[in-house]
This record gives sequence, structure tokens and C-alpha cells, in this order.
Amino acid sequence: MRSWGTRAACDSYLNPRDDLLTGLHESERFMLVLGIETSCDETGVAVYDSRRGLLAHALYSQIALHDPYGGVVPELASRDHIRRLLPLMREVLASAGVSVSDLDAIAYTQGPGLAGALLVGAAVASSLAFGLRIPAIGLHHLEGHLLSPLLEEDPPSFPFIALLVSGGHTQLMRVSGVGKYELLGETLDDAAGEAFDKTAKLLGLGYPGGAALAMLARGGAPDRFRFPRPMLDQLEKTGDLNFSFSGLKTAVVTLTRRQALDEQTRYDIAAGFQEAVAEVLVAKSLAALRRTGLSRLIVAGGVGANSRLRALLDAAATRENFSVFYPALEFCTDNGAMIALAGCLRLTTGASRTPSSTLFTVRPRWSLATAALE
Ligand code: KG4
Ligand code: ZN
Repeated sequence: MRSWGTRAACDSYLNPRDDLLTGLHESERFMLVLGIETSCDETGVAVYDSRRGLLAHALYSQIALHDPYGGVVPELASRDHIRRLLPLMREVLASAGVSVSDLDAIAYTQGPGLAGALLVGAAVASSLAFGLRIPAIGLHHLEGHLLSPLLEEDPPSFPFIALLVSGGHTQLMRVSGVGKYELLGETLDDAAGEAFDKTAKLLGLGYPGGAALAMLARGGAPDRFRFPRPMLDQLEKTGDLNFSFSGLKTAVVTLTRRQALDEQTRYDIAAGFQEAVAEVLVAKSLAALRRTGLSRLIVAGGVGANSRLRALLDAAATRENFSVFYPALEFCTDNGAMIALAGCLRLTTGASRTPSSTLFTVRPRWSLATAALE
């Protein structure tokens, strides 16, 4: 676990001219928020202070628990969150040097995700907040991801384009402010991370295999196998910003059936696949920037950790004169810090501060566009 002394991104995003803040007293802008993330196979906890930034965070990954099954087993995930969450909260609070009575609010991931896993975080957050008579704020997991670059030293200002690339989602959003998200394009089938995981499996790697596939790709030639660039034709003809990755996965399946998988071939397939995904993501991101006339792009979600994607985006940013922002590698994948930060931003830009009641709910299926309206 690591403690943090980042600048207070939350505070720095409080533009005093913002209409949402005009009614707020100085003291109401200062919030100490505990963040809890339990939507899938990682238990994440963090404490975010609107003045001092991220004070502490910790993550417990269940990857080893699910590895023998080749994917996440929902029941095992829920049980493990139950085992890990309270010890992790104690550890993070101690590391931040605060006690539960210092907290102003508790933010938790309300959805989307595995229902049982979400319920663990929702139940703990809501009951603790009820006992403390403070608000419990249920957040959309992707809102956490897309605000995560604001944890960094040099955060982007609004508006910006967000490329969200995780194991479950691939979306391009226009972000005009906290809670102001417009969907520009999304995957019609597999998410980018899912395509990485499925291809990794075909290459004999464990689950989730995105990072391992990226390692393999380092030793490969990206041009030995030319995989399809799905939906790029449509982009030129119609400006369609949607994605599709299932055909790419099928191309890898077909290739692995007729090709002996010696070591170099595995490297080359990994490199060719990664190149195809990265090129599509870059082309669509550029199209989104052009269409909206914006000049800032943020990349969030697990696939945002991919170094080839980052290299291609950085090159495009220099060439096309836009700025690109990434969260730190540890905040690309699921974590509690992004939830604590998103909760803080929501609360300081108008979310209800009513103390938690005994009622709570989770939303395993939940579109970010709906969450933005609430
Ligand atoms: O955001 P995340 O932690 O969880 C979801 O909300 O889905 O993303 C996990 C996904 C997995 O599919 C994983 O294989 C992928 O991100 N991933 C990567 C890399 N690191 C994680 N994909 C490509 N390259 C990486 N370096
Ligand atoms: Zn995620």
C-alpha cells in the first residue's frame, strides 16, 4: 500500500464562478470522502480530501482466486469482498491518519458490475454512513474511471473527450463537467479489454491476460500478421464512432487454428493484435476530437495502461496538436481512489448531502448516460 500526497484535484476543480457552487459556504466545499470499489474482482478503498488530495489508498486483487477458473466466479468474488473490505478500510484510514468520525461522506460503486460484489460495498458504505449520519453516495463505475485523470498532478480541464477502455466497456464520451457526459460511440460487441483477454487465452496466457499479452507483444513484429481494423471503413464513410472487436477475435481464432504456435508466432500474433486494437482506438479518438472541436483527450480503464496505445496516442497528439492525459498506471485498472475522487466531486458540485438511510440498492446494469442525468 502506498500513501499519497497529490494536490487537491477536487478543490482545484471548484471554480468559484461555477453556478453549482454559488450557494455553498467555504466549509461545505471541504470534504473528506472514503471511497469503496467492489464491482468486480478487486476490492479498492481510498480516502480523498478535497483540500489535500488523495491521502491513502489500497487495493486487494482477486486475480489469483479466479485464475484457476479462467474468469471471474461471481460468488467467490462476493465472498472475498466480504473478507477483505473491513480490514482494508481500517488499513487505509490508519494510513491516511483519519478516523471514521472525521469522514464527511462515503462513496461506493453502485453499478454496473456483479450484483453480489456490488452489494458488499453498498451495504458496508450505506450502513457505516447511516451510523455516522453522513451521506452515502452511489456512483457509476465508469464515472470513476473517466474522472481518474483528475487524480494526477497535471489534470485536464473540462471539456474533454474520454476514451474509456476497460474489460467490460469501450466508449467515447464528451465530458463537459462533473455529471455531464455525452456518449459519442461505444462497442457493438466485445469490449477492448475483453478482446485482449480472449486473445490472451488463445495464446495460452492466464486471466485477465491484457497486460501479459502486451508483454508478449514486445517481442513480436506487428506487421507479420495483418489483422482487420474493425469499423475503420465506416469511420471514413459515415463518421461512425462505434467499435466492434468480435471480428478481430475471430480472425485470431482462425489464424491460431492454421498456424503452429511456436514462440515467435505467439509474439507476432500478440503484436499484430495489439496494433490493430490500438490503431482503431486512436483513429476513433482523433475523429471524436475533430467532430467536437475539442483539444483534450483522456484515456481511462484497464486498457489505458497499454504502452503501445499510449505511444500511438502520444505521437498523434504531437502530430495533430492536442493534449492527452492518462491516470497513473495503478489508477487505470479498478481502484478505490477514483471512486473517492468522483464522490468528492459529485458532492462539491451539488449532489445531495442527505445522510444515508437504511435503504440502499445496486445497479448491476446501468448506463452512464442515465447516471449523468441524476
Ligand atoms: O478497468 P479494468 O480494471 O476493469 C474493468 O472495469 O473492466 O480493466 C481490466 C481490463 C482487462 O480486460 C485487462 O486485460 C485489461 O484491462 N488490461 C490491459 C492492460 N492492463 C490491463 N489491456 C491491454 N494492455 C494492458 N497493459
Ligand atoms: Zn473498471
